[in-house]
Amino acid sequence: MPVPDFDQLLDLPRFGDSVKWCLFEEGMLPLWVADMDFHSPAPVIRALVERASHGVFGYALSPGELRQVIQERLARLYDWQVQEEDIFFLPGVVTGFNMACHAVGKPGDEILVEVPVYFPMLDAPGNAGRVCRMVSLLEEEGYYRRDEQTFEAAIGPRTSLFLLCNPHNPVGRAFGRAELERLAEICLRHDVVICSDEIHCDIVFPGHPHTPIASLAPEIAARTITLLAPSKTFNVPGLSCSVAVVQDADLRERVRGAGAGLVSHVNVMGYTAALAAYRDGGPWLEALLRYLEDNCDYLLDYVARHMPLIRCRKPEATFLAWLDCRQAGLPGNPQRFFEEYARVCLNDGAIFGPGGEGFLRLNFACPRATLQRALERMRQAYERRAELAPVPVPEASEPK
Ligand SMILES: Cc1ncc(COP(=O)(O)O)c(C=O)c1O
Repeated sequence: MPVPDFDQLLDLPRFGDSVKWCLFEEGMLPLWVADMDFHSPAPVIRALVERASHGVFGYALSPGELRQVIQERLARLYDWQVQEEDIFFLPGVVTGFNMACHAVGKPGDEILVEVPVYFPMLDAPGNAGRVCRMVSLLEEEGYYRRDEQTFEAAIGPRTSLFLLCNPHNPVGRAFGRAELERLAEICLRHDVVICSDEIHCDIVFPGHPHTPIASLAPEIAARTITLLAPSKTFNVPGLSCSVAVVQDADLRERVRGAGAGLVSHVNVMGYTAALAAYRDGGPWLEALLRYLEDNCDYLLDYVARHMPLIRCRKPEATFLAWLDCRQAGLPGNPQRFFEEYARVCLNDGAIFGPGGEGFLRLNFACPRATLQRALERMRQAYERRAELAPVPVPEASEPK
């Protein structure tokens, strides 16, 4: 297996189709949308090339081996026993939680979402004619936790579903077993189904293992829809292959039924990549995690030394840093400030809902040299912040 070279600077705008790199004019350093500036693992590329060279791309069956590989993986990593029939495939995790919102409860019901959070979760309840009920996570010194009393108090007679994000984008928590147990107990007691988006489950740093909430107990599994994907882990999000695990047959049929006629099947290249990634991508993933952690440490050290009024706590999981700019004295909106004056594109924390204002999300899954260049440019703008004017926020823009 060749040693992955995460330092390699790739020609990402080459095909003009990278959302991250091609949405802005040349010269901008994009550290925003959550994909990685790395080649996928060599076995994934090999499998795709081999499949492409076949030249026939008809409707695809999901490879039987893929279910087995996932089943074995969940048992090995989390001691979570699922049956092959519990697993089905979807073109996206966002698709999956939108299907869950349609499948559980009735129009007009409330769906709980903890904020700040990955912004498509805020829209999903409304897309299904449900009401999005936001509960704030508590933040202290950059550490986020849930106040269980507040969480429970937010549950009303019409609350049917809770959308959990674990590991959490953007606040970087990998929720621990005990807090997940308490959370599940509350949901079960109030008959609230859990839809757990665990797309970031493989990007966890030492000391913070991922716990799938459904793995805690059979009665929790029976009320949970879990969504996973190889997309973040192995950098194949453009191939649109995600995984749903629903162990209760009735709930599973309801979720699948919610997509009938609307949700397209997974394409053959997505299946090919998913199988190769989950089966053969382990060593690459180990190397990736070391590289990401070094990047993260570099970032935190740089920010502490050169932009000390921006605060950032080390994430437990994800390749996303959550920068608190509230006390940094930046003029106007921090995202616009760095976009305009540093030519670095980050995500505006405000798009993640209440509690996100004044924060930035920075994606550090890039070669170290890219990160260094971006931070250097940010530092230069930061040092001039007192003399720079606020940059207006355009009224209707794409979420960034
Ligand atoms: C928490 C979370 N869920 C879902 C997605 C996107 O999933 P998909 O591309 O499979 O719809 C992302 C992408 O950033 C994410 O961070």
